[in-house]
Amino acid sequence: MSAKIIDGRAVSETMRAKMRSRVESLGLRGLTPGLAVVLIGEDAASQIYVRNKAKACESIGMHSEVHRFEHDTPEDIVLRKIADLNGDARIHGILVQLPLPDHIDNAKVLAAISPDKDVDGFHQSNVGALVTGQSDFPPCTPQGVMALLDYYEVPIEGCNAVVIGRSNIVGKPMALMLLARSATVTICTSRTRDLSQFTQIADIVVSAVGRAGLVTADMIKNGAAVVDVGMNRLSNGKLAGDVDFEQVSKVAGAITPVPGGVGPMTITMLLANTLKAAERTAEAAAVAKRASA
Ligand code: GUN
Repeated sequence: MSAKIIDGRAVSETMRAKMRSRVESLGLRGLTPGLAVVLIGEDAASQIYVRNKAKACESIGMHSEVHRFEHDTPEDIVLRKIADLNGDARIHGILVQLPLPDHIDNAKVLAAISPDKDVDGFHQSNVGALVTGQSDFPPCTPQGVMALLDYYEVPIEGCNAVVIGRSNIVGKPMALMLLARSATVTICTSRTRDLSQFTQIADIVVSAVGRAGLVTADMIKNGAAVVDVGMNRLSNGKLAGDVDFEQVSKVAGAITPVPGGVGPMTITMLLANTLKAAERTAEAAAVAKRASA
């Protein structure tokens, strides 16, 4: 058996084309959606991610701006910038690129972002809303995974799903989103003993650990959907996910490649959340205008 390749680039392009016309509609109402990215330090991967996010905004006609800070910038300077962006009417989405330098308190910074502009979905109120199934801004990577599964019509309800990884950015929200769609969800970690006893009965496996070669063909049930969120730089300079793509694609029913699988979808969902925030602003302005007429 040879797995169907889940093409995140193609799905992204289809979704972005639809978003482009929504951005144009907003433009006719005098509003350009705007995303502000805050980047602290010189982490090489973060620089690339941020550049790609800005490019993606441009490609669908959205405004974006990047606020860069030196690695040793005091926390209160960053908090002040977030407060300014919270009050900036041109900005509908705010993203603070993670990881942050050690001297900056992650939780404090994420809590400072207005929940209405929290397009990453990392503010505690949005995390809480995700738990109750009412989140306005689901975190981008797991939202992208759900969109891929739906696009390729992978059944979710009643299936066995295994999420490997328990990060706040991917693992935990991924598990909640699958659970909200009535999957039976098991969360494993990089330290799970005998990982394969869980993955072998899974209809869907999502790996988000960051360890190349973690998921091998013997761990996967025939026909399962395998989603690789890992992004690992190999010693030969090549990029690889957590999954042994070549071997696993011989047993899986569907599989995401790295690159070209989940990666483009993360950015597409960031655009979707920012667009949603901007459309809400436009709607609120229209309601206020009608009320005062
Ligand atoms: N670093 C790695 N992934 C992400 C993400 O989705 N959002 C932010 N803000 N930082 C990240």
